Amino acid sequence: MKMSATASILPRVYRVQQSRRETYDTCSLELKSVDGDGDISFTPGQFNMVYGFGTSEVPISISGDPKNTERLVHTIRSVGAVTKALCNLKKSDELTIRGPYGTHWPMEDAVGHDVVIVAGGVGLVPLRPAIYHLLSNREEYGRVVLLYGARTPQDMLYTTELKRWRARFDVDVETTVDSARPGWRGNVGVVTTLIPRATFDSARAKVFICGPEIMTRFVVPELQKRGVTTENIFVSLERNMKCGVGLCGHCQLGSAFVCKDGPVFRYDRVQLFLSKREV
Ligand SMILES: Cc1cc2nc3c(=O)[nH]c(=O)nc-3n(C[C@H](O)[C@H](O)[C@H](O)COP(=O)(O)OP(=O)(O)OC[C@H]3O[C@@H](n4cnc5c(N)ncnc54)[C@H](O)[C@@H]3O)c2cc1C
Ligand code: FES
Repeated sequence: MKMSATASILPRVYRVQQSRRETYDTCSLELKSVDGDGDISFTPGQFNMVYGFGTSEVPISISGDPKNTERLVHTIRSVGAVTKALCNLKKSDELTIRGPYGTHWPMEDAVGHDVVIVAGGVGLVPLRPAIYHLLSNREEYGRVVLLYGARTPQDMLYTTELKRWRARFDVDVETTVDSARPGWRGNVGVVTTLIPRATFDSARAKVFICGPEIMTRFVVPELQKRGVTTENIFVSLERNMKCGVGLCGHCQLGSAFVCKDGPVFRYDRVQLFLSKREV
């Protein structure tokens, strides 16, 4: 379902079906609507405003498979009061959801192109639905490349799925960590180090990036060195949000509102703001 504008500003109660620990500070919640309206359609890259009773509302990307219209999945890193409360929820606990909101990854425009996904840390969360979509519609796309960096091996999300995707012959998955204990057999180094050796056609690649803004600022020049132009680069941005629907101004970025005009932007539209430390 694409919710109507009016319906989507009304919070709806969801019940936790399962809470799974992804890493020491990150969990995934599988949720089902309490009122029986199980239609949770969304487009990869969109987010919901999530409210844990007794706390406040926070924007959280939808991390599940867009084909699964039974359960809504959110992956949450516990960084403060609200996200900690959400990660402490147990099976049968309830919370409210408004959404889905925001723009999405350009899955349609990318048909026929190579797709390169560059993710850092929890930046993989809003990209996972795009990966599910690419894999479900694999024949419509050229090469699919996933470059994923995390701080340490313990910070890596979705490790079982990463292994499964890597085992396929039609996706290139490369991972790296900033640092690791002796004995780690994977790559060590920032995610940008994976770009020069990745196999894709720069002239026909669409690149989707999500991670800390500092990462994006380093990833883009590395892509440009390979000949990728900024109109083929898309980024998902985070800003503090209150309303989530373009009313309060909390998430303003220049003339755009990240909640309504983003979170996914074509890079050349936000480049100016990202070159500054904070806006
Ligand atoms: C469009 C959008 C999608 C998002 N999707 C997800 C998601 O899928 N999963 C997820 O875990 N988070 C996501 N976030 C970030 C999430 O909304 C924040 O982490 C949350 O609002 C923090 O609330 P809090 O009350 O728990 O922590 P706060 O008390 O607000 O913050 C605690 C500490 O964490 C820091 N912090 C706050 N926000 C962030 C942030 N975005 N990144 C890093 N540090 C932060 C603060 O500076 C502070 O030091 C998203 C944000 C946006 C705008
Ligand atoms: S969060 Fe209110 S305008 Fe974006």
